[in-house]
Amino acid sequence: MPQNDKGEARGFASSKLSVLRKHPYFADLEPAAFEQLCRYAKHATLKRGTPIFAKGDPPTSLFAVIEGTVKISISSPDGRNAILNLIGPGEIFGEIALLDGQERSADATANTSCELFTIDRREFVPFVRSQPTLAMKFIELLCARLRWTSDQVEQVILQDLPGRLASALLRLTERRKLTEGERTLAITQQEISEMVGMTRESINKQLRAWAARGLVRLEHGAIVVLKPEPLQALVEAGPEDGD
Ligand code: CMP
Repeated sequence: MPQNDKGEARGFASSKLSVLRKHPYFADLEPAAFEQLCRYAKHATLKRGTPIFAKGDPPTSLFAVIEGTVKISISSPDGRNAILNLIGPGEIFGEIALLDGQERSADATANTSCELFTIDRREFVPFVRSQPTLAMKFIELLCARLRWTSDQVEQVILQDLPGRLASALLRLTERRKLTEGERTLAITQQEISEMVGMTRESINKQLRAWAARGLVRLEHGAIVVLKPEPLQALVEAGPEDGD
């Protein structure tokens, strides 16, 4: 679990308040409700690689990401990993177990150094009950999770490697609202291979072929989508047209 910053036990600096105020989930709260939320929220900074919680843990808090990326993953007893999601700035995680009171559905780890707000379940659940607009946002979030997971299942069952990889790149850029110009995804080839369920070698081969055609550019720890249209066409064409 993340450590709270020293000196912030009873609140946090005004700069942090303004950061929370801009968070998409809390920006529309009325001033009184926002103040209440600020009393509940605790600021935390985490180093890259810090485990936040593990699948099966009891839910204690909700997490709002301010900076950095959190990896949501599952692992098998023989050490294989699958990445379910990468959660970035302006996003929330830990809501599933928080809302249904059951155990955590996956592991969460700081994928980069991270800045987060955490809100204790005992305070958040009554708060969300009193805030219909916020409750609606959480319903939308749960719908988005289901759509994301359905898309993943669809890609795994119906697509070959080029289609799966193209779909993952497009979905990640859309999620991050990277719609103008170059779309840079801070993701390693190892991570993308754990996300689409293919070996790193086959991912690398496909990405290099696309880089040679000018569809993507490969950078250290990042993939830049240069031409989304041909990738989209590949997804829509289905397995037989993959190259
Ligand atoms: P929770 O079950 O509390 O803990 C794991 C969290 O991972 C879960 O809440 C969600 O916030 C988050 N998550 C994001 N994407 C997924 C996904 N595709 N499947 C499961 N959990 C996800």
